[in-house]
Amino acid sequence: MNNGQESQKANYKVPFGTVSLTPMARELINQALDTKWLTKGKYVREFEEKFAALFGVKHGVAVSSGTDADALACAVLYDFGANRGDEVIVPALSFIATGNAVFQAGLTPVFVDIDRETLNIDPEKIEAKITSRTRAIMPVHLMGKPADMDAIRRIARKHGLKIIEDAAEAHGAEYRGEKIGAMGDMACFSLYAAHIVTTIEGGMILTSSDAIAEALRSLRNHGMVGKFTFERIGFSAKMNELEAAVGLGNIEIFDDILSKRRRNMSYLIEKFRRFNKVFITLKEEPFEKLGPHAFSIIVREGAGFTKDEFVAFLEVNSVDSRNLFYSMPTQCPSYAFLGYQLGAFPEAEYCSDHGTHIGIHQDIGVEQLDHVVAVVEQFLKNKGVAYL
Ligand SMILES: Cc1ncc(COP(=O)(O)O)c(C=O)c1O
Repeated sequence: MNNGQESQKANYKVPFGTVSLTPMARELINQALDTKWLTKGKYVREFEEKFAALFGVKHGVAVSSGTDADALACAVLYDFGANRGDEVIVPALSFIATGNAVFQAGLTPVFVDIDRETLNIDPEKIEAKITSRTRAIMPVHLMGKPADMDAIRRIARKHGLKIIEDAAEAHGAEYRGEKIGAMGDMACFSLYAAHIVTTIEGGMILTSSDAIAEALRSLRNHGMVGKFTFERIGFSAKMNELEAAVGLGNIEIFDDILSKRRRNMSYLIEKFRRFNKVFITLKEEPFEKLGPHAFSIIVREGAGFTKDEFVAFLEVNSVDSRNLFYSMPTQCPSYAFLGYQLGAFPEAEYCSDHGTHIGIHQDIGVEQLDHVVAVVEQFLKNKGVAYL
């Protein structure tokens, strides 16, 4: 995931990620350098306020990565009665950071399979995984597609659980008229280079709760409260002024970035309709707006070719791609110690074995998207696959 810049280096015709470094950001970086106060300061505060305002949420707490955002949000649960080792429900399919962050906070991720069509946690399967030690549900809005928040809120309310949105990939998404990032107790964003608002590396947590915001500010700075009193086991996860300057520049052009990405996403959704027999791709329902992160493509059962063959053809034709993540508990060797058997999360495993995703960011134009479509058509023709 974290290699958008590597793909730039490789000079792909359709690269995966990009960073918009605006003139305003360059100016602010120079001003910050002149002040010689480069750790957390006034630009970080301004960035937090402006980011939170974009989502209509009271507090923004800037941190050094999206993974830290997830981990700190989990660590806040100790302020609400959680004990070490307590459980957080997460989807089996996500970028590995989602699961890692739960462990980093000293808690236990409990995995739930996803829905292949939406890529998001299957709410029907959540309640079976709730125990007396469950403290929170952490839905991920994968590829910028909102998780089923009505169902998740219903379950969380019924069982007295907190909701931590992993909105790393969903800047600008909306669900039934509400903004993703403003729908749970906390929402965590990655500001890594591939995302809509970026600070190059960075993260942000949004919350409307004063108590949670205070705990998060302490947690990002070693658990410190006041001057050198340490009340929590904390992290060292502050954002610096130069990163905040890049972020402020991105907020200035947020609407522009979002509309270009939305244009690209809608264009590919439309163009890929003709391949519907062989691929499952991102969809947007009337009740939602996606915050387009990337375009997922999953090879359907019986399509007549493998994901690896397809991805290899994209690569030789200069279209950069990434695997559609993994079922964390069954396909990541780092989680083997949990003892899950392959087959336990069939939908997540299917997406990983048969899925990929490609860039649709603001620096990709329609001509590049037409190239993608032509490459896909050529591939299917070479394979003798009748897709219409
Ligand atoms: C769903 C998800 N969660 C968390 C993260 C972690 O973000 P970061 O790479 O900024 O640590 C990412 C990374 O993009 C992600 O895709």
